[in-house]
Amino acid sequence: MNGSRYSFALIWIVLFLLTGIVHVVEGEELPKAKTIDELADRYDVSTCIDCHEDQFHEWESSAHSLSMVGSGHGRTRATFKTAITRGLMTWPYSGVKKKEDVKIEHLMICARCHLPQLAEATDDVAQEIVQAVWARDNKKLGKLSINCLVCHQRNAIIHKWQFGTPERTEVYGTMEGEHEDEDHPDIKKSPILKESILCGQCHGLGPGFHLEQPTQCATGYGSYLWAYIPEGGTNTCQDCHMSRMEKGHAMPSYRDPDMQEAAVEMQVEVHSHHWRKNKTEGVLPLATVQVELTNRTGHGIPDG
Ligand code: HEC
Ligand code: HEC
Ligand code: HEC
Ligand code: HEC
Ligand code: HEC
Repeated sequence: MNGSRYSFALIWIVLFLLTGIVHVVEGEELPKAKTIDELADRYDVSTCIDCHEDQFHEWESSAHSLSMVGSGHGRTRATFKTAITRGLMTWPYSGVKKKEDVKIEHLMICARCHLPQLAEATDDVAQEIVQAVWARDNKKLGKLSINCLVCHQRNAIIHKWQFGTPERTEVYGTMEGEHEDEDHPDIKKSPILKESILCGQCHGLGPGFHLEQPTQCATGYGSYLWAYIPEGGTNTCQDCHMSRMEKGHAMPSYRDPDMQEAAVEMQVEVHSHHWRKNKTEGVLPLATVQVELTNRTGHGIPDG
């Protein structure tokens, strides 16, 4: 009697565990991450380097790998602090009087583009980030970034009613097939990987009127859609920033000499004249200089 009750309980436990596994496999929402490390683990890309060495090293050199730290010694990290002290803390209805009040919803005014996966974390993680920002802890903040799994999984599908929600057990690429990585055994096709809209998710359209507190930082995608395309532009972001210039996952911009070179076309025309000014000063040499600058990028510059 005791024995069968015991095995009955065991079956329930096994079933319970199985449903847990099935849920994760089906890509159902995981509980929110409670620490930076837990969130970083969920987006762990340390194994990708084994087989995608070039992409990995290029990505490591890109701004995306430092999206919570920024260029220099931590320009983005420092600006997060400014946004808290000179923004959130001064706005009467933000709910933030001191840094201990900062929650995920507050950080999302920046993280919706700088770290979209932060939406999957608890307010404890918001506080851990705030602590790291105050301590100028680039190493800790650097654990979180726009990495392989943000573009090749989380943000690889936009129209979820049409194509479903990205599954955590897959990587999303340009084709369907098997994948040698045991944690992600299939490659699914992302409908947008080669489209500008992939990048547009974070490269900014404008104010963001759908938000309670619209913020803008980058607006490059807006000017791409409303200036470059209407004037007959045909390249995607990927064409210019990855393939055509052979920059791959480094996706550089103005810090790269080739990109600088490609950015602006300058035409200068100079005509010299002489000008009889007055009796005392006499005839002066004069030049008319006509400078024509043409923006050859796909958007306004500078941006962000
Ligand atoms: C609409 C998306 C979006 C939002 C919202 C956003 N950013 Fe940005 N941010 C970007 C992109 C994309 C870039 C880089 C591209 C550029 O220069 O246009 C950038 C660049 C920056 C840079 C320059 C980075 C460097 O390394 O030089 C800083 C600093 C920055 N953002 C801070 C913030 C802060 C702080 C917030 C919140 C108050 C914020 N951003 C909100 C998308 C965004
Ligand atoms: C900012 C978005 C973004 C990030 C981050 C990113 N990728 Fe990609 N990846 C792309 C895009 C876009 C393409 C398709 C490029 C094309 O075909 O023009 C691509 C293509 C690829 C390909 C196909 C071969 C190639 O190089 O075109 C592989 C493999 C790949 N990525 C792996 C990775 C790995 C591994 C990481 C992390 C180290 C990573 N990607 C990070 C956007 C990204
Ligand atoms: C054990 C080796 C291995 C590991 C580890 C691995 N990959 Fe791959 N991956 C491959 C191979 C091989 C292909 C090419 C498949 C093909 O061409 O049929 C591929 C293809 C891809 C593609 C599709 C590229 C395209 O052209 O559309 C993406 C995206 C990708 N991998 C991302 C990742 C990411 C992200 C990681 C880390 C989480 C990772 N891979 C880890 C071996 C690996
Ligand atoms: C998940 C959001 C996200 C996606 C998707 C994304 N980016 Fe970015 N990108 C950013 C942010 C945020 C930064 C700035 C990081 C920083 O320095 O703080 C950035 C930086 C850059 C920069 C460097 C700007 C500089 O100041 O040097 C370039 C170029 C760029 N992205 C191009 C692309 C292209 C091309 C794609 C699509 C293939 C893409 N990005 C997809 C968010 C994103
Ligand atoms: C026709 C080619 C072309 C296209 C299309 C293009 N870019 Fe650029 N982009 C460039 C060049 C060249 C630069 C370097 C500008 C410079 O030196 O100031 C640049 C600069 C940038 C920068 C840095 C802006 C700054 O502060 O100066 C970002 C971010 C960026 N591009 C993202 C994108 C995104 C996202 C898309 C698609 C929506 C895109 N680009 C489409 C060529 C292009």
